Amino acid sequence: MDAREEGVRACNKEAIKSCFDSEKGLLDRRIFVDQDLYDLEMKNIFARAWNFMCHESQIPEIGDYFINYIGEDQVIIVRDKSGEVQVLLNSCRHRGNALCRAEQGNAKSFVCSYHGWHFALDGELIGVPGMSPFYRKDFDKSQWGLVKAAQVDNFHGFYFATLDPDAPSLPDYLGDVGRTGLAMIASRGDVEVVDGIQKNTIDCNWKIAVDNLFDWYHVAYSHASAGEAGVLDLAAVTQANDQMVMLGEYGHAISGPAIKQEMQDEIVGMSDDERKQWNKEEAARSNGRVTRALRMKAAEEMMGPAGARSIGHPNIFPNLWIATGGSQLCLRLPRGPQMTELWWFTVLPKDQTPEERRMTVRFNSHLFGPAGLLEQDDGENWSQSTRAARGVVGGSYPHNLSMALGHDEVKEDPSGQKWIETRINEHGQRWTYQAWMDWMAADSWADLKANHTPVPTGRV
Ligand code: FES
Ligand SMILES: [Fe+2]
Repeated sequence: MDAREEGVRACNKEAIKSCFDSEKGLLDRRIFVDQDLYDLEMKNIFARAWNFMCHESQIPEIGDYFINYIGEDQVIIVRDKSGEVQVLLNSCRHRGNALCRAEQGNAKSFVCSYHGWHFALDGELIGVPGMSPFYRKDFDKSQWGLVKAAQVDNFHGFYFATLDPDAPSLPDYLGDVGRTGLAMIASRGDVEVVDGIQKNTIDCNWKIAVDNLFDWYHVAYSHASAGEAGVLDLAAVTQANDQMVMLGEYGHAISGPAIKQEMQDEIVGMSDDERKQWNKEEAARSNGRVTRALRMKAAEEMMGPAGARSIGHPNIFPNLWIATGGSQLCLRLPRGPQMTELWWFTVLPKDQTPEERRMTVRFNSHLFGPAGLLEQDDGENWSQSTRAARGVVGGSYPHNLSMALGHDEVKEDPSGQKWIETRINEHGQRWTYQAWMDWMAADSWADLKANHTPVPTGRV
């Protein structure tokens, strides 16, 4: 065992900072299989970050709840009696049993199936069987309520939570790039989550799935069959030579195709009605294939002048992908170093006609989720990339993330928004692993705030 390997096992800072060589774009592939690093990710990344929980449309009424995860901690997101959204650990304070077994629903309160402790929707412990005969009244219920997330907030109805009281506010956490990314979906007006979150597992490391969402290099090759089947116009979707990248604080990034400036100048002058008409005509022309839909004016305000040109893929660090042209969200939930659960949320404007809705849901299910054409291609590759990292020899060779390294320039407009105009590249992936190292090596939010890599300027 060399010193570096010993270091990774011990998870010391120096070893963590040697996992990715940002000067060369080389990544130690053992970060995909090492159990100690995985355990540290749960603590230093997931328990510290703002994690996406659900959309307000999933819990409109008092008592509505949705189950999600923060790392390996299962949480209940529930609207309590006062109408406030609570994020509670789904674990009874008595012996830790799960209180809520359904994935979503409506409850008046939560009663534990083990010994019957009874919790209110805001997490307060309101009933303990045998209080006087067994506990002899020697028990302070007020001390044994459910554990709550340290902070809960929402961005235009999209709820997030963090377990860390020292985390910055959600707006500060998201910053320009997180806001711009979420705006791709939030600017679509009054939206709601379509019932039925599609969930499936792939035997890969969660970071390989995140890395792939910035990967426009694989599309033409991995997904050639989707092109041949006529589902995607691969060249039009990929726009290999018109790509834009935005890198944000704490690891958020957006990467992918961009609307050309000349076209954006035309779009900016159009009213929302004119844009809707353009979209209708484009859909008619496309003959059922994937099409570009112009965003409404609200998007330009939320995304800023450069961001509004991006039609790429945002990742809100660590694991939330805004996908499928802003009509889907995908969470890549870690389930051990070599297993990832993918949750697909389809989010659509409430005023879509039933026919429009049916078409979008059908199209999305054809691309992603357990029956998705693209995800089946991707899943195989991610699984094999993860598996190879287990090999004694295979695991000792680095991943190559050197594409376009040192060839691009970060631009900045007077508002401070930063972006890169480029071709197909690996800036988003490199930024993600750089941020991963910053998070993993930090002892606390104070340490992370003080010591994370600043958003690059100049040559990247
Ligand atoms: S574990 Fe919940 S009441 Fe005992
Ligand atoms: Fe793919």
